[in-house]
Amino acid sequence: MTQTAWANKVFNDSLDVKGKRVLVRLDLNIPVENGVITDTTRMDAVIPFLTKLSFAGAKLVLLSHFGEKGESLEVVGKELSRRLSFVSFVGGLDQEVITDAVVKLREGDAILLENVRLFPGETENVTGVAQFFASLGDLFINDAFSVSHRKHASVVGIPQYLLSFIGPTCARELTHLSLILSPKKPALLIIGGAKISTKLSLINRYLDQGVGVFVGGAMVHNIFKARGLSIGQSLFDKDSTVTQDVANHPNLLMPIDVILSDGQMVDFDKVPEDGVIVDCGDKTLELLKKPINEAETIIMNGPLGLYEKGWLHGTESVLTMLGSRPKEVTYIGGGDTVAAAGKVNSLKNIGFVSLGGGAMLDFLASGTLVGIDAVTKQE
Ligand code: 3PG
Repeated sequence: MTQTAWANKVFNDSLDVKGKRVLVRLDLNIPVENGVITDTTRMDAVIPFLTKLSFAGAKLVLLSHFGEKGESLEVVGKELSRRLSFVSFVGGLDQEVITDAVVKLREGDAILLENVRLFPGETENVTGVAQFFASLGDLFINDAFSVSHRKHASVVGIPQYLLSFIGPTCARELTHLSLILSPKKPALLIIGGAKISTKLSLINRYLDQGVGVFVGGAMVHNIFKARGLSIGQSLFDKDSTVTQDVANHPNLLMPIDVILSDGQMVDFDKVPEDGVIVDCGDKTLELLKKPINEAETIIMNGPLGLYEKGWLHGTESVLTMLGSRPKEVTYIGGGDTVAAAGKVNSLKNIGFVSLGGGAMLDFLASGTLVGIDAVTKQE
């Protein structure tokens, strides 16, 4: 996909939406703990656009997924209505009730439907559900970059039936991330998390471009194994075998020491049989200082330790270093990474903070996403 392919499909103000039913896919998948919203970044990002569409007289039908266990979107709907008085939440999955609510929409009003993933067939992109969503609009806008890597009905299905556009929040991501498909060098990718199988193509792509790639988190355990090193009882990705080409690539950087779950710090080749690696060690952080300080581009996505169990040292130390670099150098994404950057007060010094996690990685691996293609490749 060339940049012009999506740039030509970005929604712009010259499109007259007055009186039109505008179906907008958002990502309102925001963190909620015990019924309380703890971060509204993704909501904040789309509020100006929704306000603009409402002022232009559109009848808005808003779609979003939420959570991982089929939770209702109601708590998010209430917050959106509190922020934007023209929005109401329409709960339930009854197609007649929803269609009726759309018919009753006045110009400038909006309804937010229930979590799209509660509609049977959404995640399998079943024709019926895509057609139902499409029947609610006269045009469709994908403003949910962070879910555009999913082959779901509300992402790739709707554009088969409705004239479609890319929204401004999504376009902003595409504009910034396109700049680092071939980053200004010297460049460094710092990648963590657990599943190397889903990230190997991205790692390969950057290694072959002459970008330094530091792999941390449980992903690096697969690389240690490929090099014949002991990882003790540490977590590793059983779905993936790392080839020797990657494991021994000259541009690959790995931890030279690690923290074990009992708190010991040991060299990477001295992990005992019963040891469990949970973070990278201080020698590694020292080693990273030079490439971080010299890079013209730094991209970071994914925690470098067992973040969910509180092993934050590596991730937070690296993000502190990133926060001291000029803004134009740094790009980060992924929920845990962004939260950690906030915690160490680096966020305000980072040049670009992606609203996507997996979508950012998939875009950087291939230069496009299925949800973007679905809009740009429309007849
Ligand atoms: C995210 O939180 O990264 C996006 O909302 C995508 O969510 P998903 O991984 O459940 O598709």
